[in-house]
Amino acid sequence: MWNGEEEWKVPEVLKCEGIRELHAWMEEEWDSVERSSCQTAAGRALWKHVIKDPVAEILAGEAHLKTLHDKMRRDKQNNAREISGVVLAVRTLWFDSKLEAAIKSFDGADSQVVLLGAGMDARAYRLNFLKDSRIFEVDLPKLLDTKTALIDAAMRQQMEPPLTLMAKSMTRVAADIREKDWLEKLQRCGFIPQMKTIWILEGILYYLHHLQALEVLRSIGANCSLAHTVLLADFMNKSLSEEPKYHFYSDWPEHLLPTLGFSHVNLSQIGDPDAHFGLFHDPLNLFNKLRCLPRSVQIHPEDGTPCRRLYLVQASGSPTTQQIE
Ligand SMILES: C[S@@+](CC[C@H](N)C(=O)[O-])C[C@H]1O[C@@H](n2cnc3c(N)ncnc32)[C@H](O)[C@@H]1O
Repeated sequence: MWNGEEEWKVPEVLKCEGIRELHAWMEEEWDSVERSSCQTAAGRALWKHVIKDPVAEILAGEAHLKTLHDKMRRDKQNNAREISGVVLAVRTLWFDSKLEAAIKSFDGADSQVVLLGAGMDARAYRLNFLKDSRIFEVDLPKLLDTKTALIDAAMRQQMEPPLTLMAKSMTRVAADIREKDWLEKLQRCGFIPQMKTIWILEGILYYLHHLQALEVLRSIGANCSLAHTVLLADFMNKSLSEEPKYHFYSDWPEHLLPTLGFSHVNLSQIGDPDAHFGLFHDPLNLFNKLRCLPRSVQIHPEDGTPCRRLYLVQASGSPTTQQIE
């Protein structure tokens, strides 16, 4: 368990000149949405007692690691009820566990996993249960080019154990999912609409405008009529999305998704039994307080603060369930 006392030290892997130059360029040239991919990688790197991600430090870079480390240290010193990054850690573990369960439910059939807004995600390198799955990472061209350069640099560093691809295959697809042609680009890179597929939309929907997010979800929902399709996605509620950088939100994803082609929807809140992972030690933590209130409540009756909720949602559909309905 991380004790919060450690002083910050630059990890050895980040001392390589090529990697430092890439990160310096990213800090200069990338916008806040692109840089958010490094923040989530920093979360995985610093919650290493629960997430084993061999490239998280390299992908995150020094600046993001140091910022989060300092916040975590302050939280620990102040006996905060929640330590910074805990939501990221829970979210990662929730997606990992639902992804594994979905792959198992396919009973050994060939499967595809598509990560939309993949950012610095390294599931293809860290999850052994993806050994029979074809992975597609979709993100903006600039981001994917840099990620490839960072991963190549990591491979050259001869890490111990050596960095290897765990998935059956991994294809990076440069596409802007706000544009109409992203699905076509995905298919041109080998995605097969008739094959069982798990879609991972982690930390992406709320960066899209409302109609763009609906269009993306509708395109995925349409695939339910062709093959067993599982969607794993996180949704912000209205109160959580009220920062200028966020746009799309849904207070009731379980009502929305059936209108877009999905037949089964399960929703969890941070802190629920399947989204806890033993990481909340104080029973009075913020997430427990929110879970005790009806979801329609937007302002906390005790302290007048907005009820900011992140929903973790699994939805699915298949040609057979669609015929029954
Ligand atoms: C918060 S990061 C999440 C990354 C990753 N899914 C994770 O959880 O670590 C958001 C990612 O979405 C990507 N993104 C944002 N808008 C996009 C768009 N219109 N098309 C493709 N990718 C986009 C960004 O480049 C960034 O990598």
